Amino acid sequence: MTTEMQSHFDVLLAEDRRYRPRPEFTSEANVSDPTIYEKAAADPEAFWAEQARELEWFTPWETVLEWDRPWAKWFRGGRMNASYNCLDRHLGTRGAKRAIVWEGEFGEERTLTYRELHCEVCRFANVLKHLGLRVGDRVAIYMGMVPELPIAMLACARIGCPHSVVFGGFSPESLSDRINDAEARVLITQDGGFRRGSVVPLKQNADAALERSASIEHVVVLRRAGDRAPVKMCEGRDRWWHELIEGVEDECDAEPLDSEHMLYILYTSGTTGKPKGIVHTTAGYLLGTALTTKWVFDLKEDDVYWCTADIGWVTGHSYIVYGPLANGATCVMYEGAPDYPDKDRFWDLVARHQVTVLYTAPTSIRMFMKWGAEYPQRHDLSSLRLLGSVGEPINPEAWVWYNQHIGGGRCPIVDTWWQTETGMILITPLPGLTETVPGSATVPFPGISASIVDENGEEIEPGTAAGYLCINHPWPAMFRTIFRDPDRFVENYWARFPGRYFTGDGAKQLENGYFAIIGRVDDVLNVAGHRIGTWEVESALIDSGDVAEAAVVGMQHEIKGQGIAAFVTLKGDIEGTDSEQEKLRRHVAEKIGPIARPDQIIFAADLPKTRSAKIMRRLLRDIADGRVLGDTTTLADPAVVEQLKSQYEAQGKTE
Ligand code: PRX
Repeated sequence: MTTEMQSHFDVLLAEDRRYRPRPEFTSEANVSDPTIYEKAAADPEAFWAEQARELEWFTPWETVLEWDRPWAKWFRGGRMNASYNCLDRHLGTRGAKRAIVWEGEFGEERTLTYRELHCEVCRFANVLKHLGLRVGDRVAIYMGMVPELPIAMLACARIGCPHSVVFGGFSPESLSDRINDAEARVLITQDGGFRRGSVVPLKQNADAALERSASIEHVVVLRRAGDRAPVKMCEGRDRWWHELIEGVEDECDAEPLDSEHMLYILYTSGTTGKPKGIVHTTAGYLLGTALTTKWVFDLKEDDVYWCTADIGWVTGHSYIVYGPLANGATCVMYEGAPDYPDKDRFWDLVARHQVTVLYTAPTSIRMFMKWGAEYPQRHDLSSLRLLGSVGEPINPEAWVWYNQHIGGGRCPIVDTWWQTETGMILITPLPGLTETVPGSATVPFPGISASIVDENGEEIEPGTAAGYLCINHPWPAMFRTIFRDPDRFVENYWARFPGRYFTGDGAKQLENGYFAIIGRVDDVLNVAGHRIGTWEVESALIDSGDVAEAAVVGMQHEIKGQGIAAFVTLKGDIEGTDSEQEKLRRHVAEKIGPIARPDQIIFAADLPKTRSAKIMRRLLRDIADGRVLGDTTTLADPAVVEQLKSQYEAQGKTE
């Protein structure tokens, strides 16, 4: 940790930087009894069991937790269904309540009540059954932000088919890799999605992906873009959504599934190799997401809740679909970009739909800051009562801006730390209880135990040094394995610090025990809140055919938090021109998806290596961030790094 960072942490707890919950908020809050932490810590299993009784079970469980480290089984013997819990059990009391309030990029609106959503989900579940899907078969979903995406997910959950949602911004190759790993039998997609006024050709991408994916038997295509995205339907394989659901029964019994039945697979980047399939199961996941939604967002019956994430990432799975719907909430869902048609689109949405709880990412907040307060000022944001942040560390400056310009100084901010693997929020304030401090996600949720450890796995005292963030005990929404790769599951997460789950994050505990997250300590980048493995970008660069060697590191980025810097040695006599830079950027975007497009590409005759030929990424990171170079004594050729540094200063051009 740099000394600069150390002093950054020292000031976090200054008296004038603390925000106490307002008494009016606390008196109405879902959780206002501070002893909840002690009670949960004294007997976490009893705590989770008590909360699990709030869900609807077809068969009660026999044991709360079976922990054969690192293999966890929660609520063994129990049977339930996530789709049933999100829909059917609300019908008696909330049938006419709005479940999804959707807005398209061009301003069209669609509202689905719980009864209507239930009906659509049942019909589509019947369609999936007619296509021959059986319990356990995997379904890939590659869509934009349209209501049919959660409908498809809940239909899968209803009949016990694990879904694998692939973010609509991913390339055909990324899609086919995920389909192949999951061996999905059905792909659900749409003709085209809308983003910033242009069409994302989802079906065309899917066609390209399916050239390399043999497991898919049927493709269901939703019509959304119409004439703006002409598609070719492959006879015998592709069917239109609207034709398939015509005349189909709108009742479909929810399958009583084992608590540990696989609910979904979601792929995420790791340090090496292709993205790994994170496996979440039914009961524990639903409990974790439902309870955190209720307590962290202080969700009330008349709230209008909006999480701005894309459902293609875990935030959307847990906090647009399963958590909020399990609570019977009214959720806003928006299809498009925040600056379409103008930079006030989010605030226009908040005001028109009277949003009360808003959950977004630091990258967006920094972008809004850069655009200026005039955009939120155009609208009445007084409906807002709570704000959330997720996905990356939020810098105190952005936190304070969010508080003032969006929250009007009156809304508590919950900075929530969690991961695809954790399934649910694990470190977070409880808004009626926790004094918040900009830059810190504060404390573990009740029932969760976290520690910072050093290289040897010894716990580090709060207020001293930074170290590795670990979770000490199992939690209900934890991922159960990596799909078809249990060895990697053990190796990546449980082997480094025996007895603990290693998150891959560096963090520090402040003097008062609060956690401040520094960021990833492995070769995973967090670009605009999205995880990208350096290895994936390096492979894409090599794959261009022009690159002999590549090393990718994160660099500080004003908006995205982290950007991508690629140090590249070209083959033979290929020249490091501007057009070569552009060609490589484009290749990476096509190969992985636009989010992986490098911000900087630096051509270098050589990369700095140790005598055992290992690339010294630490030095590349120093160069990319313009820092004083760290120790260079172990380099095979110390001159390389000086040369690189001057090349970087001469060539480095951020997009
Ligand atoms: O580095 C942490 C960062 O995002 C990583 C998890 O990424 P992903 O699995 O894509 O899930 C993102 C949405 C939950 C973590 O290892 N991260 C997430 N939330 C925070 C955060 N870093 C700091 N503060 C947060 N609130």
